Amino acid sequence: MTTWSNKSIGAIAHTNIALIKYWGKKDESLIIPYTSSLSLTLDQFYTETHVTFDESLTADVVMIDEQEVNGQGWQRVHDFLSIIRKRAEITTNAQVVSTNHVPTAAGLASSASAFAALAAAGSKAAGLDLSHQDLSRLARRGSGSACRSIYGGFVEWRRGTDDHSSYAVPVTADNGLSDVQVIALTVERHRKPISSRQAMRLSVTTSPYYPTWVKIAQTDLAAIKSAISNDDFTKFGEISELNAMRMHALTLSANPDFMYFNSETLESMNMVKQLRHNGIECYYTIDAGPNVKVLCQRRHVNDVVETFTEMLGADKVTLAKSGPGVHYL
Ligand code: ADP
Ligand code: DP6
Ligand code: CO
Repeated sequence: MTTWSNKSIGAIAHTNIALIKYWGKKDESLIIPYTSSLSLTLDQFYTETHVTFDESLTADVVMIDEQEVNGQGWQRVHDFLSIIRKRAEITTNAQVVSTNHVPTAAGLASSASAFAALAAAGSKAAGLDLSHQDLSRLARRGSGSACRSIYGGFVEWRRGTDDHSSYAVPVTADNGLSDVQVIALTVERHRKPISSRQAMRLSVTTSPYYPTWVKIAQTDLAAIKSAISNDDFTKFGEISELNAMRMHALTLSANPDFMYFNSETLESMNMVKQLRHNGIECYYTIDAGPNVKVLCQRRHVNDVVETFTEMLGADKVTLAKSGPGVHYL
């Protein structure tokens, strides 16, 4: 057994909003997706995590938002730490202290920022010095979407075929689209009734439309990448909205069927369409939860923020932009 210096390492990773969604695993244990996906890392939502490997601990200890975590949440972190331990050839238990600056399990991608931060802090605390590519592959094992939060800005997760080839890469947007505005509408801060993991499993195994999703995802990804490189906000927004609805169609068509939207989600979606009709160009996307993210350009951001502040109240409206990749404290 290696002797440890009990060094605590801290890292911050930001959440990301998927524009072309990841929804379904080909390999459940390695988290290899059926389709590639594309996201934007956000500046306003993040997780800060500190990891200490400590010989005096008899088990891993996990604290999230000042609460000790047991059960499934602990198991998920423990399993992830065990991947790190195996790689670092150590057996020491760890203390994980994490703070989410994002609602947990509400469809705002807490699992993405959480496992990206844990991958960075945990691997370094275990004495590993991983490249960004290896950090992305590692983060993926904790939560698929986490592999994209290693990088800032637009990020593509290339599905690959195995552990080695499935990781995220940054997508350059040296144009107006890198300045896209994301208005997050937090209509619900509480835990979703069905986790992303369970929900996508149900879609894969029971929705008759799943094979069509796999086909269309490739087309949508190619189209959004071309919209990003051509600085075409209209195409970018249209594809994002369409792809989000195609994903939610897989929950509506699952057996048993389920839906992540609540009434405020639907009202917000309608409002986006109405704004668009009135010449304020904006689009929505929604991950696995009722919270809506509205995409627009800088010139319309005040109108969009004002509209939703009036409709939902200021505490539910957060203006976000492109955010940075993972970094150490
Ligand atoms: P979300 O939409 O927030 O990503 P998920 O269902 O994908 O929701 O994931 C939520 C789960 O991620 C939580 O139940 C918990 O297991 C894990 N998680 C969230 N935040 C943290 C954290 N800071 N540290 C460790 N695990 C976390
Ligand atoms: C709708 O990455 O949270 O946000 O890999 O099981 O942890 P696990 O799932 P997760 O799923 C994210 C689903 C999504 C779309 C996306 O982020 O691409
Ligand atoms: Co998640």
